[in-house]
Amino acid sequence: MDDFILIKESQIHYYQAVPLYYKADNGDFVLYKPKGQRINFSQEARTRPAQTYIHKDDNQVAITELQKSFNTHLHQCLRAKDLPKVKSILGDIVKEAMTHPFDPPFKELPETIDIVFEGYQNNTPLLKNLAETSLKNRPTMDHAINTMAMTMLYCNHCKLSTEDSRRLALTTLIHDIGKTRLDSNIVITNRKLTNPEFTEYKTHAAIGHDIVKETKAFDPSVSRAILEHHERLDGSGYPRGIAHLSFEAQLIGLIDSYEYLTHQEKAHRKTKTPFETLNFIKNEVICEGKYNKTIFKELCTCLS
Ligand SMILES: [Fe+2]
Ligand SMILES: [Fe+2]
Repeated sequence: MDDFILIKESQIHYYQAVPLYYKADNGDFVLYKPKGQRINFSQEARTRPAQTYIHKDDNQVAITELQKSFNTHLHQCLRAKDLPKVKSILGDIVKEAMTHPFDPPFKELPETIDIVFEGYQNNTPLLKNLAETSLKNRPTMDHAINTMAMTMLYCNHCKLSTEDSRRLALTTLIHDIGKTRLDSNIVITNRKLTNPEFTEYKTHAAIGHDIVKETKAFDPSVSRAILEHHERLDGSGYPRGIAHLSFEAQLIGLIDSYEYLTHQEKAHRKTKTPFETLNFIKNEVICEGKYNKTIFKELCTCLS
């Protein structure tokens, strides 16, 4: 049994390069689709097994193929301006990549960013819609994609170079990758965390930094921004309480807070409207010096 891995039914049509198997009544795994072929749904719908598997030796090839197929599908949905589908596929892509940071799909995330850029770069209303279309059942992916869309809006508004914009979009998309190593009860709970839980939660910034650094896939500014995205300019943040932060960390930290306050509803805290949120953060910018004033002003303009 351990030699075979169950795959999601909704994704079986993506697999071409790897053979698929089903489990016979006697417990043996039997070839269902040979390698090099796709499932023909019109012919085989009635005979399709309820559960389909790949062999564990094919896992690397399967993950890469899945990611490439996701990207192709993403491209098609972007062209058709099908926003809920775009967001759903992006959620699948990010989830697969973040779950397997040492596999090829993680290193192919820039290709996904390129596809989104190609479809959305100069289309502010579409980017705003992308940030608003909710993946209610997947809050972590929703947060990653919303913050990426807002970062792209900011980069367009400030006319940052394409290279910087893509790097920032990628960094934002994976800024919370460290949460994949935490107890999911802490990450997705709706209640207020206890002190020990919050202490564990705070480790996600350093864990994320270590994961991304170890992959050696991206520029060092990416892992640095991940490490610093909860630090604040007044030294009140975590994990190190430092006040000298990279530009990337200052931008992502601000967008992260904005998205959290406007979208992530908790039992102990209602979400705020964009206006209320910007007013709340304005207070933290002016009175407490937590965020960069210039970045805040530009963000207000591009979100309005
Ligand atoms: Fe975070
Ligand atoms: Fe975050």
